[in-house]
Amino acid sequence: MIKERRVLLKKDFHIIDTARFRLRMDNKEREIMGKKDLAFSAKYNSAHTKAYHEKHSASIGRRLSNWREQQISAKVLEMAGDPEVVLDLPCGAGRFWPLLAQKKNREILAADNSEDMLRVAQSVHPAHLLSRIQMFQTSAFQIDIEDGRVDHIFCMRLMHHITQPEDRIAILREFFRVTRETVAVSLWVDGNFKAFKRKRLEARRTHKKYRNRIVIERSAAEREFTTAGLDVRGHFDFMKYYAMWRIYILQKRT
Ligand SMILES: C[S@@+](CC[C@H](N)C(=O)[O-])C[C@H]1O[C@@H](n2cnc3c(N)ncnc32)[C@H](O)[C@@H]1O
Repeated sequence: MIKERRVLLKKDFHIIDTARFRLRMDNKEREIMGKKDLAFSAKYNSAHTKAYHEKHSASIGRRLSNWREQQISAKVLEMAGDPEVVLDLPCGAGRFWPLLAQKKNREILAADNSEDMLRVAQSVHPAHLLSRIQMFQTSAFQIDIEDGRVDHIFCMRLMHHITQPEDRIAILREFFRVTRETVAVSLWVDGNFKAFKRKRLEARRTHKKYRNRIVIERSAAEREFTTAGLDVRGHFDFMKYYAMWRIYILQKRT
């Protein structure tokens, strides 16, 4: 019965082994997932990338929200034990590089699926900061570095775009493979005013099939972490009971 279910689910990329959770994908599965083309990923072309970078300083509201995210991220790094080797994925335009580089001897790897995004990142930061960053293009589904290469993966604003649970689990299992210690992921969660409002709005939008961003139930997100072999060490909310953003700090299970 279990065997039958596994074969069936595997066909649809549901690659969770329910009998005993498999924590890593084999190479074939990684290759398939690495080629996964999500509609949202295609959005980050040259026309959009510069605008994405500028968006965070466009208005007082955006600047405040960026400030709060940076403030929480500093606490995240502290909770993660001030890691020495960090992978920023997806790095986008490198919004968090000044923060990551505050620790003098930290090795910083930064990757994104979009070459255009990496080009923007390279053009907006000063040379002394860029000299600290090892940039490369890769997909979060198949990260192009060896097992256990980093102490910490810093993953901001990716998961709320990943609408299918099996895709999120595939990414989390890649994180499990690549990190030695911890992972931080930000996502939109339920249990707050904004999520409640969004749910009502979505219920009214019956014509719209494609969803670019989603709210994930906290219980579901935490189950997905466990499935991938990552245990919750703690979390920070952007604004408790009001905003949807939450950052989880996850510990690799040994
Ligand atoms: C909303 S931006 C967040 C960037 C950055 N973390 C930040 O907070 O400023 C999402 C990023 O995900 C990247 N991306 C999309 N699909 C990806 C994938 N499959 N693997 C890695 N990065 C991806 C995009 O190119 C884009 O830079």
